[in-house]
Amino acid sequence: VIFDSSQEASVLVAQEIANIIQRKEELNEPCLLGLATGSSPVKVYEELVRLHKEEGLSFANVVTFNLDEYYPMDKKDIQSYWYFMHEHLFNHVNILPQNINIPDGNVSNEDLQQYCIDYEMKIKSYGGLDFQLLGIGRTGHIGFNEPGSHINSATRSITLDHLTRQDAASSFLGVDNVPRKAITMGIGTVRNAKRIVLLGWGISKAEIIKKTIEGEISSRVPATYLQQHNNTTFVLDTEASSEL
Ligand code: GLP
Repeated sequence: VIFDSSQEASVLVAQEIANIIQRKEELNEPCLLGLATGSSPVKVYEELVRLHKEEGLSFANVVTFNLDEYYPMDKKDIQSYWYFMHEHLFNHVNILPQNINIPDGNVSNEDLQQYCIDYEMKIKSYGGLDFQLLGIGRTGHIGFNEPGSHINSATRSITLDHLTRQDAASSFLGVDNVPRKAITMGIGTVRNAKRIVLLGWGISKAEIIKKTIEGEISSRVPATYLQQHNNTTFVLDTEASSEL
């Protein structure tokens, strides 16, 4: 779906999320949201906060699982995804702290593998994600599933591509300060979501959006695996869709 502005698109995506939250609330069930960081979802979170403050949208039944976190990374660090999520969403809505799940960039190296298994199991124990919000990196990564990621991959630690680290360099004051690793939910974890929305804004995403939607399904562009998901929408602005 192509919109003139990312603002208009983000309001509609937030409304869809709000509808799912309310539907689950009526059923007295938890609503499982998979959430993303980066600049792409910021306006969606702004609108969710507005819906909470002005229209009474409650997050009391919401359980969130974030896609990824740099590794190693302290949650109090302003570059952490933990910090980002609290700044943009969690500090402004009535979500219960125990319902917030973000990969822990501070877990020790020895515990890392088991930690990832437990994160994956926790999502499954709720019956999977009702909604997964995604951005896309210029390598074609979703979460931090870099090229080479397997279609059925689970939550795990990965090594970041140089391009990904370059794209993050400005927020870390130089590429050398960007962590070399990250923890990410897998492609399999994401594809188990009942509904997926990928956001793509701006001309810098045009080339990877074309490869993702029109290219051959391949681990070289992990986002192409979404072509085989039966309830995914790519929500784009005119610039991001300009190569289609
Ligand atoms: C990081 C995140 C991704 C995000 C990507 C794009 O790599 N791990 O989840 O999709 O950045 O970020 P932006 O939305 O700022 O372009």
